Amino acid sequence: MTEILSTGPAVGLRTHWCGELRASDIGATVSLCGWVENRREHGEQLAFIDLRDRTGITQCVVAKAHDLRSEYVLRITGTVQARFEGATNDKLDTGEIELQDCTVEVLSTSEPAPFPIHERTEVDETIRLRHRYLDLRRARLQKNLQVRTIVNAAIRRTFIDNGFVEVETPMLIASTPEGARDFVVPSRLHPGSFYALPQSPQLYKQLCMVGGVDRYFQIARCLRDEDLRADRQFEFTQLDMECSFVGQEEVLDFVTQSVRAAVSDITGEDIGDVPRMTWEEAMERYGSDKPDTRFGMELVELTEVFADTEANVFKAPCVKGIRLEGGAELTRKQIDGLVDRAKLWGAKGLAWMRVVAGERQAPALEGGVAKFLSETESAATITALDAAPGDMVFLVADERPVARHVLGLLRVDLGKPPMDEGSLEFLWVTDFPMFDDELGPDGRPQAMHHPFTMPNAEDLEAGLIESDPTKVRSVAYDLVCNGWELGSGSVRIHRSDVQQRVFDALGIAQEEAQEKFGFLLDAFRFGPPPHAGFAYGIDRLVALLAGETNIREVIAFPKTQKGADPLTDAPSELEPRVLEELGLRVLPRLD
Ligand code: AMO
Ligand code: AMP
Repeated sequence: MTEILSTGPAVGLRTHWCGELRASDIGATVSLCGWVENRREHGEQLAFIDLRDRTGITQCVVAKAHDLRSEYVLRITGTVQARFEGATNDKLDTGEIELQDCTVEVLSTSEPAPFPIHERTEVDETIRLRHRYLDLRRARLQKNLQVRTIVNAAIRRTFIDNGFVEVETPMLIASTPEGARDFVVPSRLHPGSFYALPQSPQLYKQLCMVGGVDRYFQIARCLRDEDLRADRQFEFTQLDMECSFVGQEEVLDFVTQSVRAAVSDITGEDIGDVPRMTWEEAMERYGSDKPDTRFGMELVELTEVFADTEANVFKAPCVKGIRLEGGAELTRKQIDGLVDRAKLWGAKGLAWMRVVAGERQAPALEGGVAKFLSETESAATITALDAAPGDMVFLVADERPVARHVLGLLRVDLGKPPMDEGSLEFLWVTDFPMFDDELGPDGRPQAMHHPFTMPNAEDLEAGLIESDPTKVRSVAYDLVCNGWELGSGSVRIHRSDVQQRVFDALGIAQEEAQEKFGFLLDAFRFGPPPHAGFAYGIDRLVALLAGETNIREVIAFPKTQKGADPLTDAPSELEPRVLEELGLRVLPRLD
């Protein structure tokens, strides 16, 4: 077990921690406290007990150990001695020594544990979560909780050193405009009325700016009722920040400083300057607004190549392609599987061709749609994709957003290294579009970030917001790492005339704006400073730093994929008495 936090003094019932003793302690009389990891009999009268606490394990030689079972809690007092030659264990930090002449106090007993604590055996997740208190004893989770502590400390330190004030915003609030479903809490004092739990502190942090706090941060719990995935939980934690009289550059700098400090405190490495890319470039080159830049396989523009094509497949506004190095070996079945997936992602089809050695060993295209290509198209495709014999190329012809989207997903599908492999590749993606390119379910344009995001000054000046809203860029930016969206933020609108133009473009009427965000708009009548901010997911950052692919592994008490907690059985039904007090009636389920 590696202790990465400082342990603090060994006080109380212990004089030392179980991971602490070394050859230099030989001769000392010490008391250790912990759990029985393992017991090995040694003849009739002696046994070896491996005693474990969160820092590690010490081997203790005890007499008459047969009533000491796994996971009993013991205090063992003894003398530190060198192990016999040949009995040392170089896998353990304490492997050179053991405790002898031991006195054992049983502090508590344990039933047999439902799964072994000491092994890294895969245990069914529901069982792990049902007994999370036992799961937490395992080295992996102990380490992850410590990584989390160090990350939080680095973040706090960076923001406090930069003059940010930590403000705790309320949990029982009116709705926030983050776009997921709210969790709601019924009010007892106002039957029939509900609080929402915050999807983020967004509106409060902007109110803090109006309130002259100037630089705000919070390690904030957020709640969103959305479908759970490896990188999503109902409850999660954000580093949330906002500052006044600054723009994008300063926000990016403060946030980068905090991430740099967190990474450096865990890995000892300096992430340096975080590269930047506009949203447009990310979509063109990677087909994604959160590109995994640990690997190449970039999308290549082929529209010009097929501008005058005779092949029906490629008669489309946009043709793009990717090259899979060594992909010529894919079987027909594998290729068919990829074509089916591309269709699920929205493509009309997926054109593929093998690259083989043609005349004088020059690369040539074969199989799939190769027969539909003219010689010029073939040659230009090979050049543009830099294809070599043994490769496979995939092409999608469609509207530009579809071609990008489908090839972006295919790229990740075919090329993505495991999440915990390689370095952490951070990237800023800037200049997000102001509005989604598809209308919302109500037929109105939708804000890509949220309705308080500042449109790009040039685009505003040019009147694009009225004439061609989908072309308007915003001053919104994301932080991406290894293909995960770590965080988002924007410069906010602080002028009511600009806000009105955005509401108009979104089709939000005055009354609706007043009803939804009236309190913020009211506050903005009283001297709002220009301000900008950001939030990133601490669970996601910690998972990346701990080498975990699921954020559940860095959360002490997470929910299952179905949103349940097998430990406490939440969510559960309420007693009729409680429902009555809240003025609630539960309808029978319709299924
Ligand atoms: P956004 O909605 O992009 O922005 O959230 C910011 C970051 O929070 C993390 N996150 C989550 N982590 C785990 N589980 C979830 N369900 C979940 N949802 C979000 C992600 C995400 O990038 N108020 C704005 C920020 C701003 O404009 O200042 C906001 O919340 O890492
Ligand atoms: P078809 O002519 O429809 O039989 O398609 C021939 C091949 O081209 C199949 O492999 C299809 O998956 C592929 N294909 C069809 N439409 C497209 C498209 N818009 N972009 C890329 N490939 C396509």
